[in-house]
Amino acid sequence: MKKEHNIVKEACSEAIELLQNGYSVGLGSGRTMAQTIKIIAEKIEQDKLNLAFVPSSYQIEFLARELGLRVIDLNSVQILDLTIDGADQVELGTLNMIKGGGAALTREKIIGSNSTKVAIIIAENKLTKKLGEDMCVPIEIFPFGINAVIAKIRQVGGTVTLRQGEGKVGPIITDNGNIIVDADFGPIDDPISLESEIKKIPGVIEVGIFSGIADFVYVAMKDDVKILRRE
Ligand code: A5P
Repeated sequence: MKKEHNIVKEACSEAIELLQNGYSVGLGSGRTMAQTIKIIAEKIEQDKLNLAFVPSSYQIEFLARELGLRVIDLNSVQILDLTIDGADQVELGTLNMIKGGGAALTREKIIGSNSTKVAIIIAENKLTKKLGEDMCVPIEIFPFGINAVIAKIRQVGGTVTLRQGEGKVGPIITDNGNIIVDADFGPIDDPISLESEIKKIPGVIEVGIFSGIADFVYVAMKDDVKILRRE
């Protein structure tokens, strides 16, 4: 059995084969993306590719710039050719996802929704039969009057926890200056309805349920990489 991180690396390498010269590319955030972006930088060097990137967080923007990648603003292209991202949970069959473990969900959803193709890279343990099984839904909330917003999320059925910062006291503050809560809904029967119900609450910036966004999921299995496609 190959070591898990090697297989994830292989999954990253396979996913970036979707890159073509001249592409503008959205970059998700998190540990998988930190690995992927290094492999992208090597590919650019090797194949002499001309690519432009829209990062979804300071984490990935700083890393991209450090590696010499060309960073652009989403406004300069509007539609990206490809977005590459990780996920916290992917539902078998639908490829609907839960994202936001790294608090970058809002920008990730914007780039993913404005991309011709979206490729997701995950380890096998992130696959699930039903979204929400042992996984909370991250929700980004505007800080003003947050307790009222939390009360409304509870009415929709979520058990809500305020995400605490690491390396700072108090709640985590996102790259957009907002707060993140993690809401446990248990297994989710209808993610599309749940997403829109939560989004209707004034003060909710974005919900970590991503439905109909992933086109391909590169799954690092024990010994090889499996590619799932959305039907
Ligand atoms: C960032 O907010 C998330 O959506 C990440 O894509 C997700 O949490 C996966 O992160 P890792 O690659 O670190 O597991």
